[in-house]
Amino acid sequence: MFENKIALVTGGSSGIGLGIAKELAQLGARVIITGRDEAKLAGAAQEIGAGTAWVTVDVTSVRDVQAMFDRIKVEQGLLDIVVANAGGGTIAPIGHITEEQVDRTFGTNVKGVIFTVQGALPLMKAGGSVTIIGSTASFNPPPGMSVYGASKAAVRNLVRSWIQEIKGSGVRINVVSPGPVHTESLESFFPADQKDAAFEFMHAQSTVGRIGTPADIARAVAFLAGESSGYINGIELFADGGASQI
Ligand SMILES: NC(=O)c1ccc[n+]([C@@H]2O[C@H](COP(=O)([O-])OP(=O)(O)OC[C@H]3O[C@@H](n4cnc5c(N)ncnc54)[C@H](OP(=O)(O)O)[C@@H]3O)[C@@H](O)[C@H]2O)c1
Repeated sequence: MFENKIALVTGGSSGIGLGIAKELAQLGARVIITGRDEAKLAGAAQEIGAGTAWVTVDVTSVRDVQAMFDRIKVEQGLLDIVVANAGGGTIAPIGHITEEQVDRTFGTNVKGVIFTVQGALPLMKAGGSVTIIGSTASFNPPPGMSVYGASKAAVRNLVRSWIQEIKGSGVRINVVSPGPVHTESLESFFPADQKDAAFEFMHAQSTVGRIGTPADIARAVAFLAGESSGYINGIELFADGGASQI
């Protein structure tokens, strides 16, 4: 499906990003993954398979992100698929929100996505696809997740404008918004004494009887990256077991 295609997956060294990178590689793409931790990237690249490249970059640094694209242009050429997945967040109810938390969350999830997409577009040709990993928190953030939810609502809104601005380029931009997906970062999201109750709640919210896996999200991304979704542009696809729709 993706033979002769080059795919960039930011935050491809663990969790959902690693699942996406594996799926795209399985479908024939040559994959480039990014993250901040070189050792983690090297291990993930080995897991994804031969030919996987990696670039160490902190997406909160605009200069580093641009340097990454300069390097990709020289070493890999043009990009067909871009997945802006690097992101994360922490829990803090109003009254406990800190400046550091806001700067880190918006620096990674909003600024990081803006400069990833802006840097990638000049390297993309007609038929290319950009997918941004949002979250159902963009729509119904649970208590304590207001800052994270706001950052994900922001990226969803950026896309509405961007698809008009790049009209005619042949490149599509969509958002995949996962519900809870079992990853290490989700495990560490909750304080130890609240973890069991949180997972129980998330399972109960799902109308398909379980929370998600990285592979669930990867399949949604692969659909949006491929030609069969050629008439789909600017959407937010919820991959959440129906939880956000009830
Ligand atoms: N897990 C869920 O339940 C869930 C639900 C909805 C949405 N999401 C979204 O899905 C995406 C992936 O989440 P995940 O659960 O898979 O998290 P994860 O396992 O912690 O993976 C995050 C990835 O992003 C990279 N990353 C984080 N901050 C970075 C930065 N400043 N610069 C460059 N790379 C950075 C990490 O690598 P390094 O640490 O080495 O930098 C890692 O590869 C995020 O956007 C998250 O908001 C997750």
